[in-house]
Amino acid sequence: MNILVIHGPNLNLLGEREPDVYGTLTLQQINTEIQKLADSKNIVVKFFQSNHEGGLIDFIHENRKWANGLVINPGAYTHYSYALRDAIAGVNLPAVEVHLSDISKREDFRRISVIAPVCIRQISGLGLQSYLQGFEFLIGALSLPQ
Ligand code: DQA
Repeated sequence: MNILVIHGPNLNLLGEREPDVYGTLTLQQINTEIQKLADSKNIVVKFFQSNHEGGLIDFIHENRKWANGLVINPGAYTHYSYALRDAIAGVNLPAVEVHLSDISKREDFRRISVIAPVCIRQISGLGLQSYLQGFEFLIGALSLPQ
């Protein structure tokens, strides 16, 4: 099974960026924990981070035939990128949206996700566990008889 793990804008600064909101783990540390989980389940993962909407979209397009599904933290694109939403819908891969912080308990603009309707699940507010639970959920969904 092949899975994409995609991080949107500003997530490259994890560890130093608003640690009271996003925690102290770096993106590399988060990816390492996901890699460990993947290894324990014999799953191949490709990681990608970009601060650019088009970069995220290109990566999804380029890997659409390779991947069985994707886990994505779209960062602020969550709240307004119809282009990213269309990319996910367009490749027809099961996707899980994850967030480190609880987007339902922050500013009003964060309560809306334009990505969630094209995802099979949204997990928010659990820090690293959002990624790990999102990954597990995706694997579970992909393992069900199609
Ligand atoms: C985030 C929440 C978004 O609102 C924010 O723009 C981010 C990170 C999270 O993981 O909590 O960049 O996606």
